[in-house]
Amino acid sequence: MDTSDKWIIQRTGISSRYVSETENTSDLAYQASLQAIEDANIQREDIDVIIVATMTPDCMTPSTACLVQAKLGLNDCPIFAFDINGACSGFLYAFQIASDLLSRYEHILVIGSETISKMIDWNDRSTCVLFGDGAGAMILGRGATQLYHYANSEGDTQQVLQADGLSLVQDLQNNEPSTHYLNMKGNDVFRFAVKVLKESIEHVLAQSNLTMDDIDLVIPHQANYRIISHVAKKMKVDLSKFYMNLQEFGNTSAASIPIAYAMAQREGKIPANGRVILVGFGAGLTYGATLIDNRGGQ
Ligand code: UT7
Repeated sequence: MDTSDKWIIQRTGISSRYVSETENTSDLAYQASLQAIEDANIQREDIDVIIVATMTPDCMTPSTACLVQAKLGLNDCPIFAFDINGACSGFLYAFQIASDLLSRYEHILVIGSETISKMIDWNDRSTCVLFGDGAGAMILGRGATQLYHYANSEGDTQQVLQADGLSLVQDLQNNEPSTHYLNMKGNDVFRFAVKVLKESIEHVLAQSNLTMDDIDLVIPHQANYRIISHVAKKMKVDLSKFYMNLQEFGNTSAASIPIAYAMAQREGKIPANGRVILVGFGAGLTYGATLIDNRGGQ
């Protein structure tokens, strides 16, 4: 392919990513779940709800969440399990739905998992160098943490970021193979991303009456180093407040925020009483943010 390591690193910040050869989305989701269950110090039987955010499920049905339920050996447990597709904002959407469900359920397993390599056109240098496979998971439970949410979507009429696949009879009539590959207008997505990441952060700050000075860490969707640094610059915030691991994982779509959160936590970058903003954007077009306030509004 006509590309170079230098171009990829300079234009994106990505120097490696993972491609799954043998494990599907539910396998990665299952592995991430085991770690989340261990970290949360609960028994797997305590889980009441499983939500998987993905746009690359193993199959159209059953849902990846049901496959994870089976892998966890919870077939006979009463569990509310379903997938959601919010593209790269999927984990944020799932997290927000889960937090609303906490009034009815005690332990909610929220997973972002993708084998996005399945929908990559390996001949398209403008997309295939960006994405990687992976999964991250969290357990949400009841507590004093305050959450402030913002979510939005704008129906994409310009086809700036999309993957076809399941066309109607048109394909048969035209005798053309349908394409399920991801394709995008990179520059348009770039501009959109900078605008909505900033807007989404400002929304949750306004809701919580906090400023960026009160925030310990921002965990953005890991798409491109330059997108994130533009946002930091526009907000006049030091880039070090924005956590990044895209250099190792690339863009793992719905998995990027939970993987980044888990790594930041392991690196000691999230204080026990910290305030963290999760913020993302993706195809749809979708975007949003959640402010996690572990100081309980103090
Ligand atoms: O989860 C959301 C997913 N999407 C995104 O986050 C994408 C947002 N957009 C981006 O990250 C950037 O727009 C890209 C990384 C996709 C592209 O970077 P860019 O700086 O916007 O480059 P460009 O599209 O303006 O292209 C500049 C040149 C073009 O060549 P010409 O026309 O100037 O001759 C491209 O063909 O770079 C070329 N190019 C490449 N060259 C080497 C595009 N991809 C590559 C590549 N290697 N992999």
